[in-house]
Amino acid sequence: MADEIQRIHQILSKEITLNIDLWEYLSIAIKRPLKAVIPNTQIGITISIIKELFNTLDVDAEVVSDSKIPYLITENENIGRVPIYRYGVYYIMELVSVVPLYIWGDYKDEERTILDISAAPGGKTFLLSNIFKKGVIIANEPNRIRLRRLQNNIQKYLLPNIILTQYRGEKFPVNFQYDMVLFDAPCSSLNLIYKRRREVLSNIKRTGEYGKLQKKIIRNIYNLLAEGGELLYITCTLSKAECEDVVKHAIELGFKVVDTKWKLPFKTVQPRDDEYPEISKTHYIIPSLNLDRFGGNIGTSYVALLRR
Ligand SMILES: C[S@@+](CC[C@H](N)C(=O)[O-])C[C@H]1O[C@@H](n2cnc3c(N)ncnc32)[C@H](O)[C@@H]1O
Repeated sequence: MADEIQRIHQILSKEITLNIDLWEYLSIAIKRPLKAVIPNTQIGITISIIKELFNTLDVDAEVVSDSKIPYLITENENIGRVPIYRYGVYYIMELVSVVPLYIWGDYKDEERTILDISAAPGGKTFLLSNIFKKGVIIANEPNRIRLRRLQNNIQKYLLPNIILTQYRGEKFPVNFQYDMVLFDAPCSSLNLIYKRRREVLSNIKRTGEYGKLQKKIIRNIYNLLAEGGELLYITCTLSKAECEDVVKHAIELGFKVVDTKWKLPFKTVQPRDDEYPEISKTHYIIPSLNLDRFGGNIGTSYVALLRR
C-alpha cells in the first residue's frame, strides 16, 4: 500500500496532504462503501414502506431524515438481490452520491429546467426527478452503451419528467438556457479503488487529461446556464487537476462559488488558495473524516456549487 499512497500523494491538493492521513484514508477507501437507499417517491413509495419491507427481510438500516427526501443507510448487500428491487421501488447508491438531495433539496417541487449533462447510469437523474417533480430534466449521456443503461433505469423507475439526449457535453447545443446544470464529471474515479484498484491506479496518470475535458465541458455549461443559474460540479476523485483547477477555471469564466458547508451532511476538507479565495467554499468529501459518524466507507467525492 506504501507505493499506492506515494502515487496518490502526487496528484492531491496541498490541503488534503496536510490534513489527511493517507494511510488511514486508503485503508477505509478500499472497503465496500455504505449504501444509501432512496425511496422512489415518483411512484408513491415512502421511507416507512421501505423500512417495513426491510424489517420483513431482516435488513438492518438506519433512517436518515435530515434531507428533504428521507432515505436509509445500510451495509447489507442483499437489498439489490431481492425480487422487489426489480420493480423500481428504491434506488441504491453510494452514500456520498446523495449530495444533490442536500444542496438542491430546498428547491423541492419547484418548476425548473435542469440539464444533467453526464447522466448514466442515472443515480443522480433519479434524485433530480424525485426532487424536482414539477421540473423537467434533460438527461444527457454521450456513450451509447451507457445511454441504454440510463434509459433502462428511467423505464424501471417510471420517471415521468426526463428527456434523454446523446451529446458530448462540450458540444451540447446551446439553444436553451437552463435554470440548473448538474455536471457529475467523467473522472479518474479514485472512489472506485475498492473494486477497480488497478484501473484507478493507472488513471492517476490521466488526471491532467480528465481535467482538460472537464474544463471544456464547463466552458459550454457557462453558455447553457441562465443568468443566476446554478451549476453543481461533482467528481468522485480528489486530484487537484480535476477538482480545484477546474473550479478555478470556472471562476475565471465568471462563475461565483456558493458555500454549501451548512448543507452537506459530511465532514469535508476545504482547499485554500490566496489567488482564488473562493475555492475555500468547495469541498473534498473524505471517508476517513466521516468514519465516526457513519461507521463505514461513505465514498470519496469533490463538490462545488457555482452560480453564473
Ligand atoms: C461519473 S459518471 C456519471 C454518473 C451519473 N451522474 C450517475 O449518478 O449515475 C460520468 C459520465 O460521464 C460520461 N461522459 C464521458 N465523456 C463525456 C463527455 N465528453 N460529455 C459528457 N459526458 C461524458 C461517461 O460516459 C459517464 O457516464
